[in-house]
Amino acid sequence: MDSRLTQLPDHPDAAEPEPFAGPDHPMRTMTRSKAFGESWERSDSDRVQQIFDSLAESWSESHVDPIKAAPVGDALDRGGVPLDGRWLEVGSGTGAGARVLHGRVGSLICTDIAAEMLRRAPDLAPRVRADASRLPFPDGSFDAILMINMLLFPDEVGRLLAPRGSVVWVNTLGDQTPIHLPPADVLEALPGTWAGATARAGTGFWLTATRD
Ligand SMILES: C[S@@+](CC[C@H](N)C(=O)[O-])C[C@H]1O[C@@H](n2cnc3c(N)ncnc32)[C@H](O)[C@@H]1O
Repeated sequence: MDSRLTQLPDHPDAAEPEPFAGPDHPMRTMTRSKAFGESWERSDSDRVQQIFDSLAESWSESHVDPIKAAPVGDALDRGGVPLDGRWLEVGSGTGAGARVLHGRVGSLICTDIAAEMLRRAPDLAPRVRADASRLPFPDGSFDAILMINMLLFPDEVGRLLAPRGSVVWVNTLGDQTPIHLPPADVLEALPGTWAGATARAGTGFWLTATRD
């Protein structure tokens, strides 16, 4: 059986993002190729660490605003994912997601590869520096995994989720997000079959998906 995707109505605040990153953006190309099977090499890991360590200072000021939080909050409100379980955020950066999840989910661990990003995140949850292609947690450790503008490592996400676990995928600038995959492609890349829902909110969109 194929994965199923339900399109929900836009949130009332949904707006078109300004043009930012087109289909040829290098991060876009990388996101797609890694999600669909290209191996993640040490050189890839070094490159993203370097990029985000150098962006961390400005990121901590300019990427935690309400527009960014809007699709995350709407996913929690309307995405049908149980909030009371064990949550993991992958590519948590300087804490945009943790600020929304804090106090709303059962438990939360934040992970990122870039030490400088993690260092600037608020102390709202344990922060673990690790590569998302191979995270230091046992199989089935989490009920929900959040990724905001983050690369998708489908097999690792599938491994870490409990059998009925959920993925929350957010692109805060919609298809203008540099690290972008549309909802249908996320479902296709993930191992197994999934039931998903998606909607636009703020300048972005969210996808929630639960393994069938
Ligand atoms: C575009 S930023 C988004 C950060 C944060 N989620 C936000 O929305 O502000 C992507 C983040 O993913 C992290 N990242 C990229 N590749 C990663 C990997 N292989 N493992 C862990 N983190 C990674 C980067 O260090 C960076 O913090």
